[in-house]
Amino acid sequence: MGNVLVTGATGGIGTALVGTLVEAGHRVTAVGRDVGRLDVRGIEADLAEPGTLAAAVEALENAGDLGDLQALVYCAGISPIEAVAEADPETWRRTMAVNVASAAELVRLTLPALRRSQGHVIFVNASPGMTGVPRWSAFVASKAALRELADSLREEEAAHGIRVTTVYPAATATDLLAEVRSTFGRPYDPEACIQPETLAAMILWALSAPADAYACELSVLPSPR
Ligand SMILES: NC(=O)c1ccc[n+]([C@@H]2O[C@H](COP(=O)([O-])OP(=O)(O)OC[C@H]3O[C@@H](n4cnc5c(N)ncnc54)[C@H](OP(=O)(O)O)[C@@H]3O)[C@@H](O)[C@H]2O)c1
Repeated sequence: MGNVLVTGATGGIGTALVGTLVEAGHRVTAVGRDVGRLDVRGIEADLAEPGTLAAAVEALENAGDLGDLQALVYCAGISPIEAVAEADPETWRRTMAVNVASAAELVRLTLPALRRSQGHVIFVNASPGMTGVPRWSAFVASKAALRELADSLREEEAAHGIRVTTVYPAATATDLLAEVRSTFGRPYDPEACIQPETLAAMILWALSAPADAYACELSVLPSPR
């Protein structure tokens, strides 16, 4: 089992994912602002500043931590809720930086290692089919861009054996979703949502595909009840 680099590891989905990966025998390296509080190795990085990531990844490389890099799971994300009429340039800059530009930069910096291992990149996107949502333009725009990043990368890196998967989770019971629902004035029942541990198990499943095939897209819905 190789090393898996995880962003968003301190969040609701990321925490469950780290636990699931470790339990499955993976070594996990978390990338984020407050990774010191996690039980796995971590490197400090602010994903709102993609230009700073090269130094963080270089530190990982120098410590020999990219030698057996098998996968990158990009799970970090922010979700500002503001109408276009209100969202200022900093909202747009920050959202695009955290949700997509740092994803591209982390991929770029880790590609040599991922090519060596014929590794796997997983992007955690938004709910399936999410498009054109009033008061959520920066978020949905960033996730549309993340999908395009994934689709372009998949084509570009196929010759190097790299697999690229986009995961589209519907409502997953985390603090972020509670906050989003409250800001939109919509009800929130965590029991009716996907549990983060369930989504983590599905991401592990995607990472564990046999050599001849893999899921390039994975839409996940709460089961009907
Ligand atoms: N929950 C859902 O219903 C749902 C549905 C579809 C898609 N998603 C996507 O799933 C992903 C995780 O969502 P979640 O519900 O687990 O959210 P969450 O609990 O708010 O976690 C977000 C994660 O992103 C990290 N992050 C935010 N800004 C950062 C920055 N500037 N630098 C470094 N890390 C930063 C946070 O780190 P800090 O601890 O440092 O803040 C945290 O680890 C997101 O991409 C979200 O869009 C969630």
